[in-house]
Amino acid sequence: MSATPFDQRDGWIWYDGQLVPWREAKLHVLSHGLHYGSSVFEGERAYGGEIFKSTQHSERLRKSAQILDFEIPYTAAEIDAAKRLVLEKNGMTDAYLRPVAWRGSEMMGVAAQTNRIHLAIAAWEWPSYFDPAQKMKGIRIDMAEYRRPDPATAPSTAKAAGLYMICTISKHKAERKGYADALMLDWQGRVAECTGANVFFVKDGVIHTPIADCFLDGITRQTVIELATRRGIEVAERRIMPEELPGFQECFITGTAAEVTPVSEVGPYTYTPGGITKMLMDDYTAEVQPKAKAA
Ligand SMILES: Cc1ncc(COP(=O)(O)O)c(C=O)c1O
Repeated sequence: MSATPFDQRDGWIWYDGQLVPWREAKLHVLSHGLHYGSSVFEGERAYGGEIFKSTQHSERLRKSAQILDFEIPYTAAEIDAAKRLVLEKNGMTDAYLRPVAWRGSEMMGVAAQTNRIHLAIAAWEWPSYFDPAQKMKGIRIDMAEYRRPDPATAPSTAKAAGLYMICTISKHKAERKGYADALMLDWQGRVAECTGANVFFVKDGVIHTPIADCFLDGITRQTVIELATRRGIEVAERRIMPEELPGFQECFITGTAAEVTPVSEVGPYTYTPGGITKMLMDDYTAEVQPKAKAA
């Protein structure tokens, strides 16, 4: 991966309906989204020129905005078309896409009823979230100090920028200790998710994953549940207490960026990436291939 800062790259970014040169896709420092976290975003991947579950991501983006009390002035179909245009203009077939919507600069108080809603879409190459050699061995995950907030405290199911504040702090702490990521509990002390991915466990041939009612119900999570079910593997979506962690045999995380990544350690507990994890990694790789090519 290139170490070039993200504001100093070349290419094209879709910005409020137009393709603009990458380095010119700027916003003013007095933007509501920057000061008050009134921003929502998506993370998507294109494989072989086709964006996996593009419309589902566009709809989630619009939904996240509605949860934050703003309306993105583009339909899901228009957002889908804009994403395709970004790939085309940048000559990319395998890429990570980042649509982001935010409140602009018309009002700078907490209330921002009349602020213009902006939407930008960028794409770049992002081969694997974690180091590929490390991936097969399984990544090591720390336990985070922060918990996912109570849905009565924050709009916890939106993919809202503000919710990532605790994720960045948690991931930084984990990385400083040599871990790849951090596992967060929810506000009631139950296992929730990682800082940018959902979590699954395997025990005696059954997959266990927390109920996604106070964190993002990932599109990859939903896909993996469907793939496992197709294989006839039982998936138990249930409350998982941290005390249960030593009893699981396999662990993996899922997300657009992480795809299906095996986990070898969570805090003091160890797991051996095994048959079910491997099968789902392979099934996911097959599932994301462009439909025309996969057929
Ligand atoms: C906090 C968090 N949870 C879960 C996920 C997984 O979501 P998805 O599979 O839709 O990418 C992500 C990634 O976007 C995330 O940031």
